[in-house]
Amino acid sequence: MQIGPFELPNRLFVAPMAGVTDRPFRQLCRRLGAGYAVSEMVTSRKDLWHTLKTSRRADHTGEPGPIAVQIAGTDAAMMAEAARYNIERGAQIIDINMGCPAKKVCKVFAGSALMRDEPLALAIVDAVVAACAPDGVPVTLKMRTGWCDSERNAVRLARAAESAGVSLLTVHGRTREQGYKGAAEYDTIAAVKAAVGIPVVANGDIDSPAKALQVLQHTGADALMIGRAAQGRPWIFREIGHFLATGQMLPAPATHEVKRWLVDHLHEHYSLYGEHLGVRTARKHIGWAVRALPGGEAFRAAMNTLESADAQVRAVATFFDALSQTHLVLPLAAANDEPLAQFA
Ligand SMILES: Cc1cc2nc3c(=O)[nH]c(=O)nc-3n(C[C@H](O)[C@H](O)[C@H](O)COP(=O)(O)O)c2cc1C
Repeated sequence: MQIGPFELPNRLFVAPMAGVTDRPFRQLCRRLGAGYAVSEMVTSRKDLWHTLKTSRRADHTGEPGPIAVQIAGTDAAMMAEAARYNIERGAQIIDINMGCPAKKVCKVFAGSALMRDEPLALAIVDAVVAACAPDGVPVTLKMRTGWCDSERNAVRLARAAESAGVSLLTVHGRTREQGYKGAAEYDTIAAVKAAVGIPVVANGDIDSPAKALQVLQHTGADALMIGRAAQGRPWIFREIGHFLATGQMLPAPATHEVKRWLVDHLHEHYSLYGEHLGVRTARKHIGWAVRALPGGEAFRAAMNTLESADAQVRAVATFFDALSQTHLVLPLAAANDEPLAQFA
């Protein structure tokens, strides 16, 4: 699997999720079998680049390459400038967000809202490709199947994007109007794959090795992108990779391994955010990790009251040590059998 000059170790991608796929989470997913991870969206608004939030998002220290940064915005010149800004800070691939329905983004007509205005969408693609060309930086595009049910224009946009020089397309199998409701459909992704020569990545509701195989077969896609199912279960990448390679399911991970992954993740999380913010923002990751485990809900409620990194790590370690007394491997219920969460 190749993006421009970059050869990827496999075809399993971590979906960009604002507020989730920060550097520590991306690194964890890469260690557990993901071949590629796109960073959280960086705004094209220059006035926000100096903020701590944006500079944390643009921090790729120690991350395995290629470094891919997603940008979002509505103005072609500003998007080109955002691409340059990120290249100067180490980005090796620039991803344009036309797939995110968040109000904060769509209100200003960015993200998936751009799919409704094809001339503007293509002006942005042209400007970003031109800005990246001098450094040979590939541009990728993430989109949905269309704006709404009657306007599924993914195939048209995909063809135009390919002609404009985009190197890879990711398609989430829902329209903008759907948000995260209903089920992802894969027919439009298959149609996009059939219409273009560049690699196509299928995304949406992939939550198990069997589903991954089904989506690959249905769409003919070159790669798969996984988002919500990796929350609290980052080892899903190696489970899918193993299944695709061998047709066999990997056994559930050992409880002590999951403890180690989570504790290591917490330390990396605190070192990026500092203790005060880090303890608070780590709660969602811990919550996802324990939600389907015996006693997980009660533990989550109690853990949410802890204020120090030390206490949080100790509580997590104690919870998993106790669980390993009764379960040497993670109980099967821990495989996310809850419906995938809505995007708040
Ligand atoms: C919390 C959250 C944040 C997201 N942020 C972004 C984002 O910044 N950029 C983007 O292109 N998509 C974003 N998405 C969409 C995901 O990348 C992905 O397309 C979507 O969740 C469908 O994949 P999944 O079913 O595997 O989760 C976000 C999704 C979630 C749940």
